[in-house]
Amino acid sequence: MPEPVPAPILELQDLEVSYGAVQVLWGISLSVSKGQVVCIIGPNGAGKTTTLNAIIGVLKPTRGRIILEGQDIAGLPPHQRVQRHIALVPEGRHLWPGMSVEDNLMMGAFPPAFRPRVAHNLEGVYGMFPRLKERRHQLAGTLSGGEQQMCALGRGLMAEPHLLLLDEPSLGLAPILVDEIFQFVAEIVKHGVTILLVAQNIDYALQVSDYGYVMETGHIVLQGASDMLLNNQHVQQAYLGGSIEEPGAYPASQPAQG
Ligand SMILES: Nc1ncnc2c1ncn2[C@@H]1O[C@H](COP(=O)(O)OP(=O)(O)OP(=O)(O)O)[C@@H](O)[C@H]1O
Ligand SMILES: [Mg+2]
Repeated sequence: MPEPVPAPILELQDLEVSYGAVQVLWGISLSVSKGQVVCIIGPNGAGKTTTLNAIIGVLKPTRGRIILEGQDIAGLPPHQRVQRHIALVPEGRHLWPGMSVEDNLMMGAFPPAFRPRVAHNLEGVYGMFPRLKERRHQLAGTLSGGEQQMCALGRGLMAEPHLLLLDEPSLGLAPILVDEIFQFVAEIVKHGVTILLVAQNIDYALQVSDYGYVMETGHIVLQGASDMLLNNQHVQQAYLGGSIEEPGAYPASQPAQG
């Protein structure tokens, strides 16, 4: 018997987003199962960041539903979404460079409901990233690129996420640090956090994830189990420079996982 698919923590149904008169998402539907890593891959300008920003609530969709743990959150402002245990680690990290590492981490714990657990959560983050503990009084702007990404991940974890949205966590990092960041991604999942990952490093993204969606010009064009996508001809040719002939993945018109 095949293993049962875990319940979805997040479902997007027919999501459309525009910037002014320019529509960039055209009916995105996807599903993220609890306890999994799901990735969205695709070229520059495909709409990956726009999708994450719509989920966290900084962009308002013109159409569609965003269902988090069974409830439509599309009408909620971002701070209320964070209270529902969803956090975004944004593209480019967006740390406060003139503030200490610890103060940056504390910014992730701003909802009042989290305050009684701040000290406990901070210890949890320092347990996962000992280097941040060593450098907790250092200004975030003086951290190395890899350390800044750790700090951004740690800040996201301070919001006690059930679902963590990661936008390009390895962008601009040397290969050895890319390796380290993806090891942290795997580690975070072991702590029971579900991850929706956007990554330009498609090889790594498909290796660390369970399921993937390929987004091109605001549409999901392909989806499937990540190991299948790794061997898919379109993914190989368009993104990995290979030429394996193996269908494997489903066209986007198939029902989403979940
Ligand atoms: N604030 C904005 N105003 C107008 N257009 C925007 C804005 N932000 C993004 N866009 C456009 O929306 C489209 C999708 O952008 P988005 O940033 O979501 O792509 P992406 O898949 O994350 O790309 P990348 O891999 O380069 O990060 C692009 O055509 C982009 O130019
Ligand atoms: Mg982006």
